[in-house]
Amino acid sequence: MSFHSISLLLTIIQLTVTNSQSTLCRTSCGSIPIQYPFSIDDGCGSPYYRYILSCSISSDHSHNLQLRTPSGIYLVHNVSYIDPHIVVTDPFMWNCEDGESYRPTRPFSLDTSTRFKLSPQNQYLFFNCSEEKVIVKPKPAFCERFPEHCDSSCDSASYLCRHLPMCSFAMRGSSCCSYYPKATESLRLMLMYCSSYASVYWRNVGAPQPYDQVPEYGIRVDFDVPVTTRCLQCQDQSKGGGGTCGFDTQTQSFLCLCKEGNFTTHCNDYDTARQNRNVHVIAGTVTGISAFGALGIGAFIWYIKKVRVKAQ
Ligand SMILES: *[C@@H]1O[C@H](CO)[C@@H](O)[C@H](O)[C@H]1NC(C)=O
Ligand SMILES: *[C@@H]1O[C@H](CO)[C@@H](O)[C@H](O)[C@H]1NC(C)=O
Ligand SMILES: *[C@@H]1O[C@H](CO)[C@@H](O)[C@H](O)[C@H]1NC(C)=O
Repeated sequence: MSFHSISLLLTIIQLTVTNSQSTLCRTSCGSIPIQYPFSIDDGCGSPYYRYILSCSISSDHSHNLQLRTPSGIYLVHNVSYIDPHIVVTDPFMWNCEDGESYRPTRPFSLDTSTRFKLSPQNQYLFFNCSEEKVIVKPKPAFCERFPEHCDSSCDSASYLCRHLPMCSFAMRGSSCCSYYPKATESLRLMLMYCSSYASVYWRNVGAPQPYDQVPEYGIRVDFDVPVTTRCLQCQDQSKGGGGTCGFDTQTQSFLCLCKEGNFTTHCNDYDTARQNRNVHVIAGTVTGISAFGALGIGAFIWYIKKVRVKAQ
């Protein structure tokens, strides 16, 4: 191998190591863990969730995780990466203290171009709907167990209207009805004819059925985890201690963020390039890099979340 080809190989290796140090990605906001695909620092996580979450510090020095949607900024209460979802609260939503004096409300919405979806575990309650515009009628118990097989009327016989979570009183007559939202759009339409709304989600508590889910106020939003071979390689502990998946803030192309700097493949690249000045090893590394490049292009596997039918 000639001197020129060796220096060319070294240049290729150098190109995969963009500069000396990477800024660390914060891994929590208050008590909420932040990990792939989310981030609160630009350039970390998946570019699909860029500019969506932020961590703000309030006047009492507590950290608040916030979700940005077209309808506003909402406080995130929790994030689960195992059963991928977040829970947000809407300050304009009805709460027990309001009783029957409804405050002005506005519909929560999601940007449908993101990988977020309204969870089927949400149940919306609507208050004081105009019966000229909304079909309000008691539904049989069957509808509550299998909402997807039921019609689109708003159920005035709902379990939740009779047992408002964390509330000691019940709504009378047709002043409360429940409806399973198909999309955030249905909330906007319903709020044109109802005075207020509340979202209740069924939180999994891991108890035996039928006590495995408890109703809580909040909006559950499900998300997809984009899995790429490159990100899996980057996080691999055996390849240089494990990096953090991120992206180039200008081009949005993948970057593996490591203690030693940013790499287009995985953290081990740097060690191999620095420690082994042996031609054979260097040539081997380059082959490895090209193979990684070919592997990393495309091949998106999205987690298909199994949606369980809500059982009460
Ligand atoms: C590494 O990548 C991150 C995220 O794109 C960026 O903020 C940081 O400046 C980069 N560091 C270097 C040394 O290029
Ligand atoms: C947040 O989520 C975790 C994991 O799902 C759970 O163990 C914890 O109880 C949740 N915290 C709250 C306040 O709901
Ligand atoms: C209930 O809705 C009607 C319109 O359908 C409205 O006139 C009335 O003020 C509402 N009641 C309350 C308590 O907000």
